[in-house]
Amino acid sequence: MPSNAPIGLYDSGLGGLSVVREVLRQLPHESHTYIGDTARVPYGGRSPEELLAFNREILDLLLQSGVKAVVVACNTSSAVALPVLDAECPVPIIGLIEAGARAAVEGGQRIGVIATEATIRSRAHVRAIEDLDVACQVFPTACPQLVPMIESGLWEGPKAEAIVFESLAPLLDAKLDTLILGCTHYPFVRQVISDILGPSVRLVDPAEEAVRVLGDILAAHDLLADQAIPRHRMLVSGDPITFYQQAHLLLGDVVPAVEHVPVANALPIAL
Ligand code: DGL
Repeated sequence: MPSNAPIGLYDSGLGGLSVVREVLRQLPHESHTYIGDTARVPYGGRSPEELLAFNREILDLLLQSGVKAVVVACNTSSAVALPVLDAECPVPIIGLIEAGARAAVEGGQRIGVIATEATIRSRAHVRAIEDLDVACQVFPTACPQLVPMIESGLWEGPKAEAIVFESLAPLLDAKLDTLILGCTHYPFVRQVISDILGPSVRLVDPAEEAVRVLGDILAAHDLLADQAIPRHRMLVSGDPITFYQQAHLLLGDVVPAVEHVPVANALPIAL
């Protein structure tokens, strides 16, 4: 496998772009191929069976396109599908759960986790944190309103603040010192979250640690890219034009023309 082959990343929609942003920051010579399964977003209310089927399909598309490694840029998929896919994937594949847990226990004792319903139901973060430090107290909270809000382009302002406030309400009296942003969509409303919780709560974006680990894995496999001008691709199963516009607002000129990729059972559930 040539080291200048792209890294593959995927998510249900815009969320994984927060991981792409981190790849661009930490590994600027790497090309990437991103798939957003926007025809079937959100993933957070899906069953484990559906999530595994969707993940297998998207991972297959990435592998066929020749990626050298994969980042599951979705906590829901990392929590529910990656434990199965890990054994099936012929190239290195990593997710976000352990990375988030590791970053959180660095100094954290009372750790909140906000994530989708499927991620919270899986208890993946709770297990990962307890494996690292049994003394930590974990406060998992599902925030089902946030992904539809972020996918609709609402990232700041009074309406976004009200929805985020309502989502965080169960955590306001928990005396948290740390909060894991346990869904890759949430870093796009990081400022709103931070304004509500205040400066005493450290916000952990698992992408930072996950991409650091990715760099180590690529180096260990002699797969680090050395190209001056990396080539990026973005594909979505839904409408490429809307996705391009939103991605461009979030990441700027680095966003390439967005391609359409068909998937099976493309019916979305109601946002
Ligand atoms: N961004 C994803 C995650 O990290 C999926 C959110 C969703 O589609 O519900 O969990």
